[in-house]
Parts: sequence; structure tokens; C-alpha cells
Amino acid sequence: METVTSVREMKARSRAWRKQGLSVGLVPTMGFLHRGHGSLVERSVAENARTAVSVFVNPAQFGPGEDLDAYPRDPGRDAAYLKSLGANVLFMPAPSEMYPPGFATFVEAPELGRRLCGSSRPGHFRGVCTVVLKLLNAASPDRAYFGLKDAQQFFVLRRMARDLDLDASLVPCETVREEDGLAMSSRNSYLTPAERAAAPLLRKALAGAEGYLKGGGRDAARACGIVKETLASEPLFELDYAEAVSTSDLVPLSVIDRETLVAAAVRLGRARLIDNVIFDPSPSGPARKRRGGA
Ligand code: PAJ
Repeated sequence: METVTSVREMKARSRAWRKQGLSVGLVPTMGFLHRGHGSLVERSVAENARTAVSVFVNPAQFGPGEDLDAYPRDPGRDAAYLKSLGANVLFMPAPSEMYPPGFATFVEAPELGRRLCGSSRPGHFRGVCTVVLKLLNAASPDRAYFGLKDAQQFFVLRRMARDLDLDASLVPCETVREEDGLAMSSRNSYLTPAERAAAPLLRKALAGAEGYLKGGGRDAARACGIVKETLASEPLFELDYAEAVSTSDLVPLSVIDRETLVAAAVRLGRARLIDNVIFDPSPSGPARKRRGGA
């Protein structure tokens, strides 16, 4: 595995691969990798002749007072892990490489980006869209892999890819969890033992809503009520939001009559945890699977 730090070098690698007729997969990450990231890399390695993984803690998606400086980093361990998974290139640009002096252009999907996490993290998805578009330009992949743990991120990026006619297909990947159900996240390292013990309740709350929907319930307020009531039973949790929205435009629903994202975020000590379930009431099953990504 090669480590590449400049956009120019990344473009040269990708160009050479494509010239040889090799398909290219890209897995964008912010590093401090865990098995959730690993599952995306494994899928890319299985589906493409070459895989590039980016590790870049993107300053543009952190708000003032957020954890940019504290964000956990371990480039040596990340590189060893990626090599063991069969990645071909580790793309690790410096912030000045991605945002040189004078940088002045941003991309955003403002309607989708201000909902859910966007309301407490203004500008976050603008930073995500901008960096992901830059990473896609640098690596020119056939496919780029994203986790549904960050479901809003995937739906915002899918909108960007459609609206801007991007060539890459964006592939959604299932959430990888700890044994007790907690979604793996680099930020779980912020949790104290007591907070870590409380954390799986977020998953349980969402599973309660999923059970209601699978049992035929279609009232969005009731589904969110189940999540909120469960979360309220844990005093360490401070609710940010629990909402049921359409996956196509992230607009809140009152009746669950289409593919729905039920998403929640809580503050737990220094960490902010997110999780979700995606439910499709149509008899033919999950629309996102039918469409096969893109
Ligand atoms: P990061 O949080 O490092 O996540 C990188 C990718 O791994 C994202 O697509 C995320 O959804 C996925 N991922 C994280 N935890 C996962 C889990 N438990 N199961 C499955 N997939 C998981 O998301 C970002 O970085 C950044 O916003 C980025 C897209 C790289 C842009 O800066």
C-alpha cells in the first residue's frame, strides 16, 4: 500500500489505473479507523480492482467549539489496518493541501443539510459536501462507499451526486455495531465507562420504533414518541432530536407511507451519538436496495 499526500499524486494514480482498465473504489474517512470503516474498505476491495482510502479530518465540517482539535487520530495504526484489508492507496492530504490560502468555493444542499443534525451543526453538511466532492475529483472512483450510520450524510451526498451529474455511484453500507448494539464510531472513544454502559440504549430506543413500524404502526409521532420515551429513561442522555423523515428529501412525515429514516441524536458526556433505522412500508421492500445504491 502506498501513501499519497497530494491531490496531484492521487489524480496521477487514479489516471494510471483507469488507463489500465482497472475499476476504482474510494472510501472517504476521517481516520481513527474501526471495523465500521473496515467493512466499507472490504466491500470496495471486493467490488473494485483498486481501492483508495482517504484519511482526512476535514476542518470545514467542524463548527466553532466542536471537537476538531480533540478528534482522535492514529495514522500509524490506520495505515497498518488498511494494508491488512488490501487497500492500494492511503490518501492523507494536509489541511493546506485541501484548503490552500485563498480557497473560496463551497458546495451544499441547503434544504437537506439544515435538517436533523444540520439544525444543531449549521454548516456541517456544507463542509461534508465540499470535501467529498474534492475527494471524488481527486480519486475519480467508479464507486464511493458510505456508511448508513451517518444516514443523513449519505442522503445529502446522494442528492449532490445526482444534482451535479457526478460519475461515481455512491454505495450505502450497513451499520457495523458492537456486540451490545452500539454503532461503532471514532467518537465512542470519548465515553467514560458509565456513559459507555448507557450508550446502547440509543439503539434500543430506535429498535423500539422499528418494532412499532414492522408491526404495522404508521403514525410518525408515535414512532418518535417511542424513541423519546426510551431515551428519557436514561438521565445521562440529553436529547438533541428524534425524527421520522422521508429519505428522498428529509422532510418530516406525519404518516409513514414511504421510505422513512427514523433518526436520533443524543449528547452523552463529551460525545454526541447518532443512530437510525430505515423503514420502507412498500410491499416490494427497501427502495434503496431496489435502486442498488447510486
Ligand atoms: P468518518 O466518521 O470517519 O466515517 C467514514 C465513513 O465510515 C462514513 O461513510 C461513515 O458513515 C462510515 N462509518 C462510520 N461508522 C460506521 C459504522 N459503525 N458502520 C458502518 N459505517 C460506518 O463520515 C465521515 O468520516 C466524514 O464526514 C467524511 C465522509 C469522511 C467526510 O469528511
